[in-house]
Amino acid sequence: MSKPLREATVLAHPNIALIKYWGKRDDRLNLPCAGSIAVTVGPLGTRTRVRWHVDGPRTKAPDRVLLNGSLADEGTQKRVVRVLDLFRARAGVHDWQAEVESENDFPTAAGLASSASGMAALVMAANEAGGFRFSRQALSVLARQGSGSGCRSLHGGFVEWLKGEREDGEDSHAVALAPASHWPLAVAIGVVDAGPKPVSSRDAMVRTFQTSPYHTGWVTRVERDLPGARRAVAERDFLTLAALAEGSCLAMFGSMLGAVPPVLYWQAGSVAAMHAVWAWRREGVPCFFTLDAGPNIKVFCPAEALDEVVARLAAIPGIRQVLRGQVGGPAQVLEQVEQT
Ligand code: PMV
Repeated sequence: MSKPLREATVLAHPNIALIKYWGKRDDRLNLPCAGSIAVTVGPLGTRTRVRWHVDGPRTKAPDRVLLNGSLADEGTQKRVVRVLDLFRARAGVHDWQAEVESENDFPTAAGLASSASGMAALVMAANEAGGFRFSRQALSVLARQGSGSGCRSLHGGFVEWLKGEREDGEDSHAVALAPASHWPLAVAIGVVDAGPKPVSSRDAMVRTFQTSPYHTGWVTRVERDLPGARRAVAERDFLTLAALAEGSCLAMFGSMLGAVPPVLYWQAGSVAAMHAVWAWRREGVPCFFTLDAGPNIKVFCPAEALDEVVARLAAIPGIRQVLRGQVGGPAQVLEQVEQT
């Protein structure tokens, strides 16, 4: 191992799944019941700085975690420390204490996967700051344990999270399917509610897995959709991807509706926007939607159609704000500092 650098800042983008991840075969390790395919979305991002204190037994000072300028709440702090503990165990540096500062430039906890970009940025910053040489695959395995979808945000462009077979989860990580340059799609994100969601994706997923009679059908559906989605991405076949992505999204929500008690993230604006997207497509505007564990809607389109889609989305009652994104690059180091 090279001499430890003490501090690094990493930028990671959120990702939006087209073939969704919903349900875990192992809750502790975040091992999914099926694979998933997502798009990395820039310029939205999480910037995370990790500073390692390597000079004393860690018991003297716990890790310090700042999120968007304030001390992280207990739940977030625990999740971050858990991932740092996994990192320390893998790196063999049990005594190192971390100072983490993370900023999102988009609403946190609004179904925009801030936990995904956050976990990807965290593990990569921990790696770079310490001067370690863990591969993106190893970092993806670590990020997955903080937030399942986080394993996909290490890569740019179009990304697949492999379900894996192993019980220890070492083969359940993301792989790059195609870089951002392969297909410069854009996305309009219609914010219906930027507040925290009523049920976390973690809890809703467990509930669906344990109580929904539709969950097994959902998993079968994902396995069936993955090869077609891979092909549609490789061939830049927009309409095929549109049908697969909307179908996967709606089937995921179908599985949640069957949970006890049911989970419903949509609000009126979400539903109005879904109907509108279908109408626009019938008119010839190339676009399709997807939603995650929240009411906000993401509408994908070719880059040249983005202005039109943003204007139309903004006019829908219940859509409070529209963010613009495009297929983004991999997690990257912004700064590295070696202290004396
Ligand atoms: O990784 P989590 O716990 O944030 O769950 C993500 C779940 C969805 O966003 C709804 C689907 C997905 O594949 O990202």
